Amino acid sequence: MARKRPLVAGNWKMNGLGASLAELKALKQRLEKTPVPEAEIMVCPPATLLAQARWALTGTDILLGAQDCHPLPSGAHTGDLSAEMLADAGASAVIVGHSERRSDHGETDALVNAKGKAAFRAGLTAIICVGETEKQRGDGETLDIIRHQLAGSVPKEARGSNTVIAYEPVWAIGSGVTPTPADIGELHGFIRGELGRLLGKAEIDGLRVLYGGSVNPGNASELLFAPDVDGALVGGASLTARDFYAILGVYAGRAGGSSGPKR
Ligand code: PGA
Repeated sequence: MARKRPLVAGNWKMNGLGASLAELKALKQRLEKTPVPEAEIMVCPPATLLAQARWALTGTDILLGAQDCHPLPSGAHTGDLSAEMLADAGASAVIVGHSERRSDHGETDALVNAKGKAAFRAGLTAIICVGETEKQRGDGETLDIIRHQLAGSVPKEARGSNTVIAYEPVWAIGSGVTPTPADIGELHGFIRGELGRLLGKAEIDGLRVLYGGSVNPGNASELLFAPDVDGALVGGASLTARDFYAILGVYAGRAGGSSGPKR
């Protein structure tokens, strides 16, 4: 299996004005002083800041991602943004199917699938989110829900080279509550198995499965080194350079994330 470099992506959600670019500059400075080459680093600001963020991050390896896209490349869709537009503004990836979009906008697996295909068409990496709600978890439906979401949301063209899966239990997002490392490991193993069945084992070689939900500097080392975890999608704690850098720091000096030696 290809060696995977972990990815830590900061999802700013609907947060960030021009003044927030100062956090990106601060992150850049921290990384210049003490780089973390072991991890791939991405920031997903609101689309309004993408172009400015691109300039703020010039000369760094920090990648830019967007938070959503429309399935079509252009057209009469007031207020929407195509994957091509996001690429043009500097994004190299786009999050699709985040639970907040699934719940706020009624996004279905089929729509998420179409958005994933749009990402590929524009040359973007699709970061496809899946995760069960608290009720589904309580009803013992977690694996069925994840299986169903993967089957519906992941385009058949998905490969390790163009896709990242983020496992984000909805009950863990923004709540401060997280699954145990063992539970995360079990879910990630399950996701990998399902993807292998859906897409083919060779096709998912190198595909990264991120954990997301209340990752912070205090729990990052425990969560990011859970079995089969290839990085994190970080919400609230990605808004400040200090916390985001502290999370990245768990990789410092450790080669290869989940496959690396334990500290
Ligand atoms: P959180 O959000 O880290 O604030 O829980 C994670 C996410 O929704 O991507």
